[in-house]
Amino acid sequence: MSIGLDDVIAAETILSHVDGEAGRLIIRGHDLEELAGRVSFEDATAMLWDGLVPDASDPRALFGEARERAFHYLSPLANNLSGLTPVEGMRLLLSALPDADKNPASLAVGASAVAAAMAIRGAKGLAPVAPDASDGHAADLLRMIKGAPVDESRAKGLDTYLVTVIDHGLNASTFTARVVASTEAGLLSSVVAGLCALKGPLHGGAPGPVLDMLDAIGTIENADAWLDDAMARGERLMGFGHRIYRVRDPRADVLKAAAARLKGNNNRIAFAEAVEQTALNVLQRRKPGRRLDTNVEFYTAILLDALGVPREGFTPLFAAGRTAGWVAHALEQERVARIIRPQSRYVGPWPAEAA
Ligand code: ACO
Repeated sequence: MSIGLDDVIAAETILSHVDGEAGRLIIRGHDLEELAGRVSFEDATAMLWDGLVPDASDPRALFGEARERAFHYLSPLANNLSGLTPVEGMRLLLSALPDADKNPASLAVGASAVAAAMAIRGAKGLAPVAPDASDGHAADLLRMIKGAPVDESRAKGLDTYLVTVIDHGLNASTFTARVVASTEAGLLSSVVAGLCALKGPLHGGAPGPVLDMLDAIGTIENADAWLDDAMARGERLMGFGHRIYRVRDPRADVLKAAAARLKGNNNRIAFAEAVEQTALNVLQRRKPGRRLDTNVEFYTAILLDALGVPREGFTPLFAAGRTAGWVAHALEQERVARIIRPQSRYVGPWPAEAA
């Protein structure tokens, strides 16, 4: 038995493949590097959904309309967000959506963007900003967070991020979404379940804590001692290690390059690089032979911070991108038409035999 299901193959998929030894991510036959920064999130989603969702031929219009439809459903709930973190607020909002919408796939993606922005603003007591269906998905998402139009380079930075995290094999949240889909609970329910699994710090909850770590380290002179102390206390270094990658996560370099394209970010990247190298040295020293490397979350934190997204909003934005993948996997799983139902080995007491 493998407690973390490490080597268990639980699904066949045409969607994406993670090669942990080569550090390679393939999405529907394309290396990540062919897509991120080159193809819009809308087009990448349409490509991911090809053959699974029938009406994604004009994805920009499809998701623009879906954001507006989602806002109609969600804006009455905006007053319920105070006291919740953004990811909790996003969970509340997505839970309110009907599984029986006329186009649940596009609604899920539109609603994830609207809910992420609404929850980020709601956590600060700010009113929601309505979507603009004519805008690109990433630009509109960033505008809905900030309440003002954003320049093209920032919109492009977020677009690159959303494509980079769009899908990633059978990670914990995608598996969760597939389990829910296998019960025929419906697409929006699969997405809510995916979000619940994503929010933990061992999965998509890590990038906010990465920024906390960088802030606590402060200067590169402190890095070795700070990181070494953290490991001595038995803590995990956020943004490092992965169940599948035994080498550097290819998404780290894509996101680092996207952050480097933003003006005025050079010093920040130089600091991040220096901390990253120190962390890798500390990991090697403290966990020799473990092959722990940088994962996607380290440069997610640098990029989203540079885009002006508050750190509590990083996980909602991860979910906004990954929703496209959850939807695709849920639809693929529905076609399998067999409930996912593994077994446990009972190690508890047996009833006393009748005398
Ligand atoms: N810092 C310190 N030690 C670590 C780290 C880390 N970031 N990651 C793994 N280790 C240690 C483990 O404690 C374990 O040590 P042990 O064998 O002496 O007990 C050893 O390295 C091997 O761990 P793995 O089996 O490779 O890790 P696992 O697959 O269980 O966990 C995980 C993967 C959860 C991502 C882990 O690396 C981690 O907690 N990282 C930090 C949190 C993080 O960055 N999460 C985002 C992941 S990316 C994503 O989900 C989108």
